[in-house]
Amino acid sequence: MTEKGKPLTIVLATQNQHKIDEIRTILGDDINYQTIREYFDLKLQETGRSLRENSFTKAAFSYKVSGKASLADDSGLFVEELGGEPGVYSSRYGVDDKERISKLLANLKNKKNRKAKFKAIFVYYYAPGSFEVFEGECIGRIAMEPRGTGGFGYDPIFIPRGYNRTFAELGQTVKNRISHRAQALAKLKKYLMTYK
Ligand code: IMP
Repeated sequence: MTEKGKPLTIVLATQNQHKIDEIRTILGDDINYQTIREYFDLKLQETGRSLRENSFTKAAFSYKVSGKASLADDSGLFVEELGGEPGVYSSRYGVDDKERISKLLANLKNKKNRKAKFKAIFVYYYAPGSFEVFEGECIGRIAMEPRGTGGFGYDPIFIPRGYNRTFAELGQTVKNRISHRAQALAKLKKYLMTYK
């Protein structure tokens, strides 16, 4: 992934170190990564009503402050029985991961339908007014209780389809192969190989 012989620089418009690690691992080492922290040290706000809106806002802002190609991810967990909640509000569902997980499990208590999916929407903003959108999803179900220590967020209660263990139990190698982020980033990778 080079542009005129130089490695492509991408600013990652996220302050979540877990996401940064996942993105770097999945996209690989041919890219020169920077993070929004190098240009802006306040918390990025997420006030939009869709993943796409939040992702676009973060990527466009990052491009504005850095002047460099920027990549933002907004993601969420959509639970069928809860009408798609917490969805776009996944990070605002409780004060921390522990509270968010407890609330979700309490809301699903005695419910048979535990189907859920993670969705990720990436916006790659690379020139004034120019951007591309990449989506990924990972289908699965919600575990009866938290299990495992890997990953972050809702990983201890999400069991991807075809597995009996949670993302937190499966570990990063498996997660980075099948996750919503992996699906979306595979599309971005293809795009970068074709156009950059
Ligand atoms: P945001 O994209 O930073 O707004 O994150 C949305 C919420 O979904 C956060 O609470 C994350 O913890 C959660 N989330 C996003 N991606 C994942 C994931 O891969 N595993 C577990 N939780 C996730």
